[in-house]
Amino acid sequence: MDLVYELIFTVFPYLCLTVFVLGHAYRYVTDRYKWNARSSEFLEKKSLFWGAILFHIGIILTFVGHAGGLLIPQTYYDLFGITGDMHLSIAHWTGEVVGIAALLGCLLLLGRRLFNLRVRAAGTFNDLFTLGALAIVIGTGVYNVFFGRYNVLYSVAPWIRGIVTFSPDPDLMRPVPLSFKIHVTAAWALLGFSPFSRLVHIWSVPVFYFFRRHILFRRRATGGTGAEALSSPAPGGKEG
Ligand code: HEM
Repeated sequence: MDLVYELIFTVFPYLCLTVFVLGHAYRYVTDRYKWNARSSEFLEKKSLFWGAILFHIGIILTFVGHAGGLLIPQTYYDLFGITGDMHLSIAHWTGEVVGIAALLGCLLLLGRRLFNLRVRAAGTFNDLFTLGALAIVIGTGVYNVFFGRYNVLYSVAPWIRGIVTFSPDPDLMRPVPLSFKIHVTAAWALLGFSPFSRLVHIWSVPVFYFFRRHILFRRRATGGTGAEALSSPAPGGKEG
């Protein structure tokens, strides 16, 4: 039994994290031209719009909540007067809203990939697998928020912190309900799979777009060869 806990709650997470890091490096070096979200907007817009908006808002806020709620120890919240009960209650209510948004969006995207003929014809098994895996991770997470009724602050949270600080303690996961165990194990597996899917686009958020210099388009000078337009402003000094 001890070995099983060691394998599932120590070895498996580190295996997934290793594949995650090396997999991204490998994919970046070998397959850089396919490193993108592989948009299918030109095939179908309507359900993509609602699915993608709900899903992305829900999942990004869920990540923020997980990072803030699980990685920061409760003792820091206590310093600011946020007790364990308050922390759990905030996590519970916000988790319900953002979790439902992410799940609804994910199911819309999955339904679109399964039932829209054009999207299905252009898609791959990898696309379906990615959305299916996301639906399992988010679905079990939403189930835990609504029905789990379990205090993760002194079990799952210190276990995750132990993993990221290289001092893992699988015993912390012993009393945790099965639905939480499935949720975290599926999440590690998805993390390990992500470098080989379209999820790589997460690391290419175009933040520099907001700070880049403007691109200046000049009007081509009429009657000329066009070469002068490159070196001088358009007639009348106007810039298009
Ligand atoms: C960090 C900011 C993010 C940005 C800017 C972003 C942007 C995009 C864009 C532009 C698309 C293509 C939509 C289209 O088909 O036109 C997309 C699709 C997708 N994104 Fe993101 N994304 C982000 C984060 C995430 C995260 C955190 C996840 C999941 C963990 C995720 C999962 C997906 C999935 C599964 C699709 C495919 C949807 C489909 O076509 O079926 N994204 N994203």
